[in-house]
Amino acid sequence: MAEREHWKNRSIFIMAAVGSAIGLGNMWRFPYIAAQNGGGAFLIPYMTALLTAGIPLMIIEYGLGIRTQGSAHIALGKIRKPLRFIGWMAILCALFINIYYCIVLGWTWNFLLASPDIAVWGADLAASKAHFFTDILHISEGPWQFGTIYPNLLWGLVTTWVVIWAIIRSGLSGIGKVLLFTVPLPVILVLILLVRGLTLEGSATGLNHYLTPDWGRLTDYHVWLAAYGQIFFSLSVGFGTMIAYASFMPEDTELPNSAAITSFSNCCFSFLAGLAVFSVLGYFAVATNVPMTEVSQAGPGLAFIVYPAALAKLPVYVTFFGALFLITLLLLGIDSAFSLLETVSAALSDKFGITRSVSTTITAVFSFLAGLPLATGAGIYWLDIMDHFIMSYAITTVAIVECLAVGWILGAKNFAAEVNRTAEIKIGPIFSFIIRFLTPAILGYSVIRTFVDEMQ
Ligand code: PFF
Repeated sequence: MAEREHWKNRSIFIMAAVGSAIGLGNMWRFPYIAAQNGGGAFLIPYMTALLTAGIPLMIIEYGLGIRTQGSAHIALGKIRKPLRFIGWMAILCALFINIYYCIVLGWTWNFLLASPDIAVWGADLAASKAHFFTDILHISEGPWQFGTIYPNLLWGLVTTWVVIWAIIRSGLSGIGKVLLFTVPLPVILVLILLVRGLTLEGSATGLNHYLTPDWGRLTDYHVWLAAYGQIFFSLSVGFGTMIAYASFMPEDTELPNSAAITSFSNCCFSFLAGLAVFSVLGYFAVATNVPMTEVSQAGPGLAFIVYPAALAKLPVYVTFFGALFLITLLLLGIDSAFSLLETVSAALSDKFGITRSVSTTITAVFSFLAGLPLATGAGIYWLDIMDHFIMSYAITTVAIVECLAVGWILGAKNFAAEVNRTAEIKIGPIFSFIIRFLTPAILGYSVIRTFVDEMQ
């Protein structure tokens, strides 16, 4: 088998991990999850989830990848053979998320290429909603119809896949070059949106809604589950992605500090994106006399319905800011999407000894075809169902197993000792307590509770 490719250096590795973590989830998922789950008070469960699950799991995944120089099934299989199954489960989740992630990117291309003129279709909330459902999703033609793939969405999907396939096929050095643009550029674009948002009249209304703590919500366990779910999705842990990325680093790579840098950059970006989104929404609420509670209730429609409608109300340069926002989404999503494809492609190449070029092509073609049913009017409903099962059950199970396998079978002490050889920040008893007891208990409770609730 060909020798394993490696990232050029640790900075490129961290950049790749940050690129994977910072994605659509930061701009589109975090703001509405935060607003719906206690506003400013949500930052408490969110930070708790970051410290008790996000960073420890990232250290575990980095450690497993680097130590075994293999994908998730190899990394977990080396602890105990049957655990290979859990590794494949993580990789399968990456495949599913990739399929749906690319559909969302397909919508974004479609918005940008087919209908960049936000001012026309986003005149108000109703018009923006109609545009999304009718022109992009074609839902008005009947949500449950199958077999009709909408040409405009198809082109969005083709564009997405061709771009991702081309990037991944260029190998790790090619990916490294792309990351130099796709990681910093969206940060700059979001800062531009933020400055624009903060200088608008009414922005304070939006920020108050986003940040004013509703302390009462902290006693609701749904809020805590939402925080853990968001941390997993946002940090890309539990999907085998960070294991695959770390397996492209030499064995003496520093871990805990790299994990902390990745995680904190991701969370700071989410916070900033929330400010950018809610300042503009506040302006919109004041300008149109629509209460903030209604504006922010959109959930997933926030990025594709409410935010565009809010941008369409800007005093000047509407098309410019509309395009800027869509390009930000594309740049954010693209490096997360190729990290997901890379996870599956690396696993196939590790398993069957095929070249990366072949495994990448197989994965891309398969995922594209598997995504076609989602490009029908029913797609958005399937996305919801898949997202729910993957996030509530599969990823949580992978995370519990990873903690228990490292904490109890490999031994938290042994793992820590190995990691500490090269660590800039040492890990010790707290890490051990978290992965052996705390995180499995919280996550176990969350799976059981979700299941019980669903059975009722
Ligand atoms: N972290 C990405 C986001 O927030 O959009 C999504 C993601 C990428 C999830 C890679 C999982 C993954 F393996």
